[in-house]
This record gives sequence, C-alpha cells and structure tokens, in this order.
Amino acid sequence: MLKEYEAALVEKKLLGIGNVLLTFACEDIAKMAEPGQFVNVSCSLFLKRPFGICTVDPIGNTFSIGVKEVGAGTKDILTASVGDVFSILGPLGHGFSFDGVKKIIAVGGGTGIYPLYFALDKAKRKGIPAICVNGFRSWQDAFFLSECEELSEKTIFASDAGDLGVKGTVMDALKLLQPEDLTDATVFVVGPEIMMKKVSAWAHVHQLSCQVSLEKRMACGFGICLVCVCKIKSDADNMPFHHVRCCKEGPVFQASEVIW
Ligand SMILES: Cc1cc2nc3c(=O)[nH]c(=O)nc-3n(C[C@H](O)[C@H](O)[C@H](O)COP(=O)(O)OP(=O)(O)OC[C@H]3O[C@@H](n4cnc5c(N)ncnc54)[C@H](O)[C@@H]3O)c2cc1C
Ligand code: FES
Repeated sequence: MLKEYEAALVEKKLLGIGNVLLTFACEDIAKMAEPGQFVNVSCSLFLKRPFGICTVDPIGNTFSIGVKEVGAGTKDILTASVGDVFSILGPLGHGFSFDGVKKIIAVGGGTGIYPLYFALDKAKRKGIPAICVNGFRSWQDAFFLSECEELSEKTIFASDAGDLGVKGTVMDALKLLQPEDLTDATVFVVGPEIMMKKVSAWAHVHQLSCQVSLEKRMACGFGICLVCVCKIKSDADNMPFHHVRCCKEGPVFQASEVIW
C-alpha cells in the first residue's frame, strides 16, 4: 500500500566529492524495502526526487539513501541537518528479482552503487556469492570501496583517470573476469544508460541473465502521471513494443526486454 511518511534525518555522512549518505527514521520502509526499490523524497521544489534505497536497518528502524548533488533539488536535500523532517513516499517500484539467482555479478557506475549495495547485502544474507564491478571517474570520486569488498567474493574497480583499479570503464574491468566467475551468474546493473546498454550486450554475448535499473525522469513516482514511460519489447503480434511506467513496473527490468 502506498504511504507517505514524515521521516526525520538521523545521520548525514559525507562519502566522497558531492556524495552524501542520508539515514532516515522510518520503521515501515526499513522493514518493507527490497533492493532496487526507491523512495521519493521531498525538497523545497515542487516535485519529490527519486533515490534508490541503499541500506535498511529493520532493527533500528532506519534506512539510507546516497545522494549526489546534480541540481537544485539534490542541493536543497543536502542542505538538511540531522533532525530535519522530510515527506517520503516508499518503498516504490519493483526491485531486483532473486528468483533462481545462484551468483550475482553486480555492475555499478556512479550512484548506481547505492542500490547495488543493498542487493549485495541481501545476497550475503541469503548465502548467494557475489562479484562486484564498480566504475568511477577517479579515486577522488570513489566511495563504498571496503563496504563492497566486504560483501563480495571478488571486487574489481575501474576509473576513467586510472588512479583506482583498472584504467577505463566497467567494460574494461569485466574483461578481467575468469570463465568460472561467469558460471551460473546473474548480472545486476545500475548506472548511466550507455553503461547499462553495454553491460547488457556483454551479458547477452556470455548468455547471462541480466537485470537493469532504468533511471528515467520521474514526477509522481507511483504510476499516475506517466512522465516516466519507456518502451519494452512486446510478444504481441504486430507490436514490437509496449509502454511501461518505469516507476511502477520498474525501475528494474530484464535487460532482454529493454529497447535502448
Ligand atoms: C529510480 C531512480 C533511482 C535513483 N537513485 C539515485 C541515487 O541512489 N542517488 C542519486 O544521487 N540519484 C539517484 N537518482 C537520480 C536523482 O533522482 C536525480 O539526480 C535527482 O532527481 C535530480 O534532481 P535535481 O533537482 O537535483 O536535478 P535537476 O535540476 O532536476 O537536474 C539536474 C541534472 O540531473 C539530471 N537528472 C535529473 N533527474 C534525473 C533522473 N531521474 N535520472 C537521470 N538524470 C536525472 C537532469 O537531466 C540534469 O542534467 C535516481 C533516479 C531514479 C529515477
Ligand atoms: S513518475 Fe509518474 S507514472 Fe512514473
């Protein structure tokens, strides 16, 4: 059931340049959220802003999101102090499916690491082995390095600047995986669209099931405004595609369904 919560900010932690982890008190979201789901967070502007859920603490009744400042809304959210109260809708959308998943290769770019961190945490708790491949612009932009290493059997970092891990993108990092790393793996990808498209093609070549989290501009976040509509392949005769709402049917989709 869709519910709007008044949630207090209980912790604010700087992670790296422009990236801040915000922790909120909200028992329902902490207990109900699944990896890949998101919350819509109020700011001083008209529309709430969507953020993937990064961590949950169902005992302490808190959850967190990682926010990167890109414009007025995120700037405003990041000026908040501990104790400030936000209106938050969530948990929203459909997250990653763990059905039949035996091993995860989590591939993240930029803020994509936030929802993937939650997925890695769930995988660890379920005893599902995981490999983590994360791309950053440079060492200065990097965060969650030791956290991802803790939750993964193997971690490979890539940076455009070449000052952290492999020089290049996550595509260069994926080349370092061994054939046995790919056995029985399902790929979870969150990051810029061009990166997700390339990783999906890589997964297809290696005959791996792949789930991607699409990041569309959103308004309502729960399926009524149609701002976030995108095209998904259709099985129906004479219909190459059908429309879905990224916020409601997604944001996570099977990569094989997505029309990029
Ligand atoms: C399902 C989902 C999960 C997300 N998870 C996170 C997260 O975990 N951490 C995080 O920092 N951000 C995340 N985002 C992106 C975040 O919602 C946007 O950065 C934010 O809404 C921008 O608001 P703004 O007012 O600061 O920027 P605006 O002034 O509205 O825009 C500034 C710039 O950001 C771009 N932008 C704005 N909204 C989006 C969007 N939805 N997708 C892609 N580009 C956008 C604009 O095109 C523009 O270039 C997520 C988005 C979605 C849809
Ligand atoms: S954001 Fe309104 S329908 Fe998706």
